[in-house]
Amino acid sequence: MEWKNEMTGLLKIIYPVIQAPMLGVTTPEMVAAVAERGGLGSLPVGGLSPDRTRELIQKTKSITGKPFAVNLFVNEVPEYSREDAEAMQDFLEKFSAENQLVFERQSLDTLRFYNYREQVEVLIAENIPVISFTFGIPDEETMAAFRQRDISLVGTATSVKEAVLLEKAGVDAVVAQGIEAGGHRGSFLDDEPLPQVSTFVLVPEMVSRISKPVIAAGGIKSGVTIKAAFQLGAKAVQVGTAFIASNESLAFPSYKTALQKAQVTDSAVTRAYSGRWARGLRNQFMDALEESGLNIPPYPIQNILTTGLRQKAQQADRKEFTNLWAGQASAGAESRPSAEIFDRLIAETAALHIV
Ligand SMILES: Cc1cc2nc3c(=O)[nH]c(=O)nc-3n(C[C@H](O)[C@H](O)[C@H](O)COP(=O)(O)O)c2cc1C
Repeated sequence: MEWKNEMTGLLKIIYPVIQAPMLGVTTPEMVAAVAERGGLGSLPVGGLSPDRTRELIQKTKSITGKPFAVNLFVNEVPEYSREDAEAMQDFLEKFSAENQLVFERQSLDTLRFYNYREQVEVLIAENIPVISFTFGIPDEETMAAFRQRDISLVGTATSVKEAVLLEKAGVDAVVAQGIEAGGHRGSFLDDEPLPQVSTFVLVPEMVSRISKPVIAAGGIKSGVTIKAAFQLGAKAVQVGTAFIASNESLAFPSYKTALQKAQVTDSAVTRAYSGRWARGLRNQFMDALEESGLNIPPYPIQNILTTGLRQKAQQADRKEFTNLWAGQASAGAESRPSAEIFDRLIAETAALHIV
């Protein structure tokens, strides 16, 4: 298997295999482990404060001297209905009391959101070589600042239309995120229905429509799936769910176990936890909120309103009450060091002799 291609050249890596950024799961240790093995580790900092962003980058740099990507959320904060947000807090309060969880109501006047523009300076000062992003396209000024410094830029698309817009905006590569992918959908054309296209369909369509390299994401967990993505025209793959149960992951014990045992039908795409569509294992909170019929405030409002509840559930290892982001192909995710998971992916792919 010849691994060297335009993506290994662009990203200065040995294998065009990317450990997906997974906010809440990925640690500097996971990023460093994959970087040390010759892949691209991705450090997620979406929505974090500039100080926390710097701290995580410096922590990663203290473990590895290899290049790694930093991943941003490039959404804007939308208008929202305070009435819906208060009704949501009423629901969360009642739901928490019924399930022996403590809920702290928040004042809508003091909700604090960090925008990606606040992180740009840190990324530039830290000389980050690769920046990937999701939920949209950075504004022109930010794109120009990154490009001026020769930073490689990777956007996320869930449809061909989004990929074309990203290419026009000047990215170097596009992640084709299929509907089977775990976590948030990167979709950003708000006036259109949510794209629900599988990786297998999306990758070749995108490859035929844009000239920049396409990175396949969603459902990739083994040698055969990596090989299939390359056969479809992808120049790299991005693997998320297969690293969630790894030793370096922040995932709590019952989340890891549920993911490893899940059937392909056990996850769903929901707005319940964050206000943005995301794929996770179905659980009690998701069902209860969807059955309530309440209007769910948009991201990041809902995300902030549910943060306290989710943190407490995670600390108590109660998987029914927090987001269990996972892709459809989560079964068998391994509990072992990320470096070994990465090595397995490479070895399995190399051992295949498919023409
Ligand atoms: C727990 C979790 C968190 C995620 N967080 C992010 C993130 O912070 N930024 C991002 O661009 N994508 C995020 N994603 C999406 C992944 O980058 C990637 O597209 C997806 O995991 C690929 O599909 P797979 O899960 O089937 O491997 C997340 C996915 C998961 C499972």
